[in-house]
Amino acid sequence: MTRVLVLNGPNLGRLGSREPEVYGSATFDDLAAAVRGWAAGLGLEAEVRQTDDESELVHWLHEAVDTRSDVVLNPAAFTHYSYALRDAAAQVTTAGLRLVEVHLSNPYAREAFRHVSVVGPVATGTVAGFGQDSYRLALAALAPS
Ligand code: DQA
Repeated sequence: MTRVLVLNGPNLGRLGSREPEVYGSATFDDLAAAVRGWAAGLGLEAEVRQTDDESELVHWLHEAVDTRSDVVLNPAAFTHYSYALRDAAAQVTTAGLRLVEVHLSNPYAREAFRHVSVVGPVATGTVAGFGQDSYRLALAALAPS
């Protein structure tokens, strides 16, 4: 089965208790289980990870390049300012792999600082604003045809 890395940045481990009016009441474990189920139904094997650590996320993107894995990435707040993450994401797509940036919320409908994504320009595509379904749609885009 084709392996996909589903990588999640800071504070997403707090889903369920973190601003439920924005991010919903499902926990990160709920999200991870849903992602694994959707992936399996699409013929993908999703490895779901979360970290609050920028360097760990960068290393996981290097791993995606080295193992030739497509990526679903929710960079969380790093979206808006991490050039290190942007440069790591660029290595994924310039290696001919696909990287889909996802967001639970729609950052463009929120505070001005969320209107910039430094990752978006080097991603294959972006899905935002559909809650957990953002991940399902991203996986569908990566599914074998
Ligand atoms: C987020 C949106 C970001 O602006 C925010 O910093 C997050 C979550 C989302 O999934 O909606 O942590 O990436």
